[in-house]
Amino acid sequence: MKVLSVASEIFPLIKTGGLADVVGALPVALKPLGVDTKTLVPGYPIVMKAIRNPVVRLQFDDLLGEEATILEVDHDGVSILVLDAPAFYNRKGGPYVDAAGKDYPDNWRRFAALSLAGAEIAAGIMPGWRPDLVHAHDWQSALVSVYMRYYPTPELPSVLTIHNIAFQGQFGADVFPLLRLPAHAFSIEGLEYYGDIGFLKGGLQTAHAITTVSPSYAEEILLPEFGMGLEGLIASRIDSLHGIVNGIDPDVWNPETDPMIARNFGPNTMKNRIENRKAIIEHFGLDDDNGPIFCVVSRLTWQKGMDLLASTIEEIVAMGAKLVILGAGDAALEGALLSAAANNHGRVGMAVGYNEPMSHLMQAGCDAIIIPSRFEPCGLTQLYGLRYGCIPVVARTGGLNDTIIDANHAAVAAKVATGVQFAHVTSEGLLHAIRHTMQLFRDRKLWTQMQKQGMKSDVSWGKSAERYAALYSSLVSKGM
Ligand code: ADP
Ligand code: GLC
Repeated sequence: MKVLSVASEIFPLIKTGGLADVVGALPVALKPLGVDTKTLVPGYPIVMKAIRNPVVRLQFDDLLGEEATILEVDHDGVSILVLDAPAFYNRKGGPYVDAAGKDYPDNWRRFAALSLAGAEIAAGIMPGWRPDLVHAHDWQSALVSVYMRYYPTPELPSVLTIHNIAFQGQFGADVFPLLRLPAHAFSIEGLEYYGDIGFLKGGLQTAHAITTVSPSYAEEILLPEFGMGLEGLIASRIDSLHGIVNGIDPDVWNPETDPMIARNFGPNTMKNRIENRKAIIEHFGLDDDNGPIFCVVSRLTWQKGMDLLASTIEEIVAMGAKLVILGAGDAALEGALLSAAANNHGRVGMAVGYNEPMSHLMQAGCDAIIIPSRFEPCGLTQLYGLRYGCIPVVARTGGLNDTIIDANHAAVAAKVATGVQFAHVTSEGLLHAIRHTMQLFRDRKLWTQMQKQGMKSDVSWGKSAERYAALYSSLVSKGM
């Protein structure tokens, strides 16, 4: 089966979060199942710089008013289609925001163009290759199924994955005429959303199947608290909704071979892990005592509960723990965490910015990773934590709920616990969980057993890739 995946990020070419990891790893996992994927992504400057030996596959004279070219490159056996359209993507900042951190004002057009290019490929205009199905991710490519619905092309099945319903791509109705859709697409069955247009809304309305990245999140987005206004629409599509948990790329995240950490280790060579701990202590100038080192690797946002972390740092330190933080995002949170680090020299360290190697070293060298998210569609850092013996301390929500087994009495007795969960996502809830984690840490035998249990957990794409493949097959065989 041939699948066109359309997304705004793909690891390792361009990444701002977990979306990139998933878009990069899923095609590799699907390949042995007979699914051949080509992934269409925007040609941001960083992507254009990284690609080698591209082949021109298609040219547009007028893609929403601009010239564009589709280039194909092979990346470790996986095909990537790059939409080279300088008018849309040749910008100085990141994929979505300018150098000052402000959304590009024409994001609607930049990502409508990506979606339209995807719909054109779905219609078969690229010589020599036409997919059997299209798989879009998040609002940035959600218009693919809208264009497929309203353009008079032979119908092909489409899947839309919600990685985060908080980002919906909502824009003023004034841009509608410029999307080149027929007038009746501005309706409740199409793009119209409370008088505006909603990219994600339109995709949820028109895709043949909707998936999200964990079973718990699939249930949560039916509730107003998590559905962010789209809960009614999701409920109306419940028969087409599937929660499929993310996996991880086992080659990129393997402590036995990872070149980005100080010393490789595995379940049978746990002693070597200490070298990574030492590297963390040295890098952040931490006190070299035997207390646990907690880490955070995260976007610094309200979603991720970083305000809760900031407000509890003094108490965490008072308990005898150390903390290192790697993150970027909200300036106020960044400032609060930086000043906490400055006030607690030797106990708290912080690295601001995006640093892929440091994210690996933290998982390899810290004792536990804190993820106090208010909502978490899946979350990947807890999965990396499991694989690296860095015990996840997580809010009981979304994918965190589905992937971590809480160290309650029964789970500890049965030797199946892999982390600590807390249900009340408040400062008190977080502190309670950290206190519990510190108790577990003092029992060295139990701690090592939990680490090894985590390292044995199945965090691969195996079963989830099978579920995607089965979903694709059912849609293709239904001919819809
Ligand atoms: P989200 O996509 O919501 O940010 P995920 O847990 O799914 O959350 O994925 C986050 C990804 O981004 C992980 O691969 C994590 O290691 C990485 N990451 C987050 N912040 C940083 C950072 N400051 N530096 C390096 N990697 C980071
Ligand atoms: C989003 C979610 C995160 C998920 C990732 C990949 O960024 O916030 O929970 O793991 O997408 O699906």
